[in-house]
Amino acid sequence: MRAVVFHRVGDIRLENVPEPKIQEPTDAIVRLIASAICGTDLHMVRGTLPGMEPGTILGHEGVGIIEDVGKEVRNLKVGERVVIPSTIACGYCSYCRAGYYAQCDNANPNGKNAGTAFYGGPRMSGPFNGLQAEYARIPFANIGLVKVPESVTNDQAITISDIFPTGYFGADIADIEPGDVVVVFGCGPVGLFTILSAQLQGAGRVIAVDHIPDRLDRARELGAETIDFNREDPVDVILELTGGIGADCVIDVVGVDAEMPKSGPAAEKLKEQKEEYIKEVQQIAPERSDKWVAGDAPSLVLSWAVQVVEKAGTLSIIGVYPQTVRNFPIGLSMNKNLSIRSGNCNHRKYIPTLLDLVESGVVDPSKFLTNKEAFGSVIDAYKAFDERRPGWIKVELTGMKEGEEAAPEELAA
Ligand SMILES: NC(=O)c1ccc[n+]([C@@H]2O[C@H](COP(=O)([O-])OP(=O)(O)OC[C@H]3O[C@@H](n4cnc5c(N)ncnc54)[C@H](O)[C@@H]3O)[C@@H](O)[C@H]2O)c1
Ligand SMILES: [Zn+2]
Ligand SMILES: [Zn+2]
Repeated sequence: MRAVVFHRVGDIRLENVPEPKIQEPTDAIVRLIASAICGTDLHMVRGTLPGMEPGTILGHEGVGIIEDVGKEVRNLKVGERVVIPSTIACGYCSYCRAGYYAQCDNANPNGKNAGTAFYGGPRMSGPFNGLQAEYARIPFANIGLVKVPESVTNDQAITISDIFPTGYFGADIADIEPGDVVVVFGCGPVGLFTILSAQLQGAGRVIAVDHIPDRLDRARELGAETIDFNREDPVDVILELTGGIGADCVIDVVGVDAEMPKSGPAAEKLKEQKEEYIKEVQQIAPERSDKWVAGDAPSLVLSWAVQVVEKAGTLSIIGVYPQTVRNFPIGLSMNKNLSIRSGNCNHRKYIPTLLDLVESGVVDPSKFLTNKEAFGSVIDAYKAFDERRPGWIKVELTGMKEGEEAAPEELAA
């Protein structure tokens, strides 16, 4: 079957690999009909999320049809259409039962304390083969697959695999109260879903920061007040917009590939720190590839976030940082009595709620997809997304099987 295979940092290829088989009675095999490329995949290809095992199939977003089920999968049938939560969880340990699916005690073969198990990730996350493939093996399928209601389209469902639940989670752990001022750093696909989710959860105002014009336009269309960090200093502007108080909640949806402002007053202010940030990149990601565009200021958003949150406010961190990142402004944070909440999304906790919101017409998440690419051009799509080319915000992949492109009505969307 065809799959996107990680060879080494900077080198990923679409190639033929053996099809997965049921290994445990709790497994299922799914034939993918839609997948996608996430900002997290970019960290791995760029080298800023280190520890990838060569040969791992990438991708952790998927919608598909069940092809086979193990004998302990009692709630699903071959032929059903399902969405795949990105993180893998057993569904029966105390963490799963409390909704902390991303901290499951049983899913990660590296042990209870190894962290989140997910598809297509580094060694410490399993490793599990991912979902940018024709077929995938799904462990703990009874909990690791969720049936998609008939009226929910594949385009809608693919956003519910990872990016919508993650945005919803980011807003949830920010403890938003009705009327709160919420700042969202990063207007990539997950950032845009975070803005929407903050609004769904009662935010009075959302202020969004990025530097890519079409992403800021999207944020503004959603109703966020936008700040381009290459034109204005986000710290000064947010304090100005909030009467000097700062925001109630700040959500980091950028992660390790944060970029330095290249112009404007923020660039001027940070001139002296440029070298420090370069050293930080070298320490976090010693192995990088010139062909892919990594960020150049890994902890910058954390520093901005702590400056713009009000005293005793809440910081929610859902941008991904590898364990090699050590620079968090703990002194300023501690002295402001901040609450800090963070982590990988507990996808499975939110998916049923989000399917309901879509089925009932409250939200149409397919409008967040900007590109639908045939699987044959997946590597080009990775490049376009990596370079943040105008218009390339969220790429859906279809037509996994060679010669079997997406259905015409799907491509028309
Ligand atoms: N916690 C989770 O479970 C989870 C799940 C999915 C994705 N993620 C993470 O969420 C983050 C966003 O994902 P995405 O797919 O939207 O990625 P993305 O790369 O498309 O988006 C990142 C955005 O941040 C912007 N940015 C860069 N530097 C900035 C700065 N200094 N200030 C403000 N904005 C800045 C970029 O211009 C870009 O638009 C990534 O770190 C990804 O790994 C986390
Ligand atoms: Zn992701
Ligand atoms: Zn568990």
